[in-house]
Amino acid sequence: MDTREPETYDVVGIGFGPSNLSLAIALEESPEPVSALFLERQSSLGWHRGMLVPSATMQVSFLKDLATFRNPTSSFSFVSYLHDKGRLARFVNNQDFFPTRREFHDYLEWAEARVRHLVAYDAEVTALRLPRPGSAAPAEHVRVEVRDPAAPGGIRGVDARNVVISTGLVPRMPVGVESDESVWHSSAFLHNFRRRRPGELKRVAVVGAGQSAAEIVRFLYDSLPDAQVFAILPSYGYSIADDTPFANQVFDPDAVDDFYRGSQRSKDAIWQYHKNTNYSVVDDEVIRDLYQRAYDDEVSGHRRLEFVNLARVVDVKRLAQDTRVTVHSLAGDTSYDLDVDVLVCATGYDPMDPSEVLGELDAHCLQDENGRHRVGRDYRLATTDALACGIYLQGGTEHSHGLTSSLLSNIAVRSGEIARSIVNGRTAAHEKGVTA
Ligand code: FDA
Ligand code: NAP
Repeated sequence: MDTREPETYDVVGIGFGPSNLSLAIALEESPEPVSALFLERQSSLGWHRGMLVPSATMQVSFLKDLATFRNPTSSFSFVSYLHDKGRLARFVNNQDFFPTRREFHDYLEWAEARVRHLVAYDAEVTALRLPRPGSAAPAEHVRVEVRDPAAPGGIRGVDARNVVISTGLVPRMPVGVESDESVWHSSAFLHNFRRRRPGELKRVAVVGAGQSAAEIVRFLYDSLPDAQVFAILPSYGYSIADDTPFANQVFDPDAVDDFYRGSQRSKDAIWQYHKNTNYSVVDDEVIRDLYQRAYDDEVSGHRRLEFVNLARVVDVKRLAQDTRVTVHSLAGDTSYDLDVDVLVCATGYDPMDPSEVLGELDAHCLQDENGRHRVGRDYRLATTDALACGIYLQGGTEHSHGLTSSLLSNIAVRSGEIARSIVNGRTAAHEKGVTA
């Protein structure tokens, strides 16, 4: 890894969540020197901090960490972290593949500290630009524009021969519903919750039947002993996330090849067969916890947890201090209102969309017949001849590479594949004598 500040970086990573952290490690471990800079809009590393509720556990084995599947001897593995912290024996004694999200966050921070020299924080990327617009020659690098209040015009530029976009999932609210001080998306749950005095929340509702919703319902029930908690669910309760051994094969590195090579029909079929491993589903343990709480309420005769089944939120209005939620029920096809102090929308996420960051370069990125970006097996966007530089995606490739695109399962291998493609591209460019 080359740490001198070059005029043009070999790689600029946009976003510094687990995906690009894993890439930074792959580059750090690369035998070829590669100059790299990662730009992150947060002021420090933060992995879904708004959802770091105390009891939440990982949904992936600790062995699917930032490095092990690419390099089982990496010093950046979760096992190395445990060893470094003096907890390896106690972790193993616990006989659990799934650490808490808090412990995994600590692992990410531990790994980040070792590559921090490659990262600029408080650095939001606003757009990518061609360095010489109108030039007939293919662009060998792009200009990455970064918000910087100290720079002239509030923007500074960084040049890169390769860009890796990894800006993460985009929170999704119910159609027509805006977030405000009493209507929160799950992604900002803890930030908002900590701003309120617990005693002022007497009636709270959580909409959704995914993992986020279930974890928040459990947390609110346990944290607000005097509150009524409504769980607004589109179905009869929560459905279980299939994490059985055969189904888990969909997250194997080889499954990316199966998906990538398949026709649109096979891709659709694989997605349908296996979406219940991840979307709108909940871990068995959380489902049982919630059912037990509701049952205990019934025994004690004091019902605080109310499951509003077969219901979707269709409208939300402000009503003095209250928030009025209009719910449409599949039971009888009726609608009714529910007044609450706070509504939490655990209504999921849209996939990463690189278009906003691509800016004017999006016009040079090729699309398929459904208007989605065309992406190579090495996660490099297919572009017109105007771009000789590489633009890679970590995330936003569910349509081409399958279910693991938004998950942690394959980040070590994927980052290795991207690092190799960048190094190979650079070697080829050197051979052609085009590198500056
Ligand atoms: P991630 O979203 O983590 O990081 C993107 C980064 O880009 C952010 O730090 C953001 O600030 C930054 N950014 C965005 N725009 C920017 C810009 N314009 N300029 C600069 N920076 C910018 N998956 C799994 O396999 N196992 C699990 O246990 C979980 N658990 C889990 C919990 C919760 C609550 C959620 C919501 C999701 C998960 N996931 C998961 C899925 C999740 O997508 C995955 O864990 C990682 O966050 C993916 O890492 P990324 O780095 O791709 O995105
Ligand atoms: P999700 O799985 O997409 O679930 C969203 C839920 O909201 C679905 O049940 C959806 O129902 C429902 N919904 C959407 N609009 C609605 C409306 N208007 N009314 C009622 N219900 C509505 O989202 P998520 O739970 O946030 O999970 C996203 C990702 O994060 C997953 O990968 C998950 O595994 C991960 N995650 C992990 C952890 C952890 O590691 N511990 C914690 C939280 C999340 P329909 O399907 O019917 O639309």
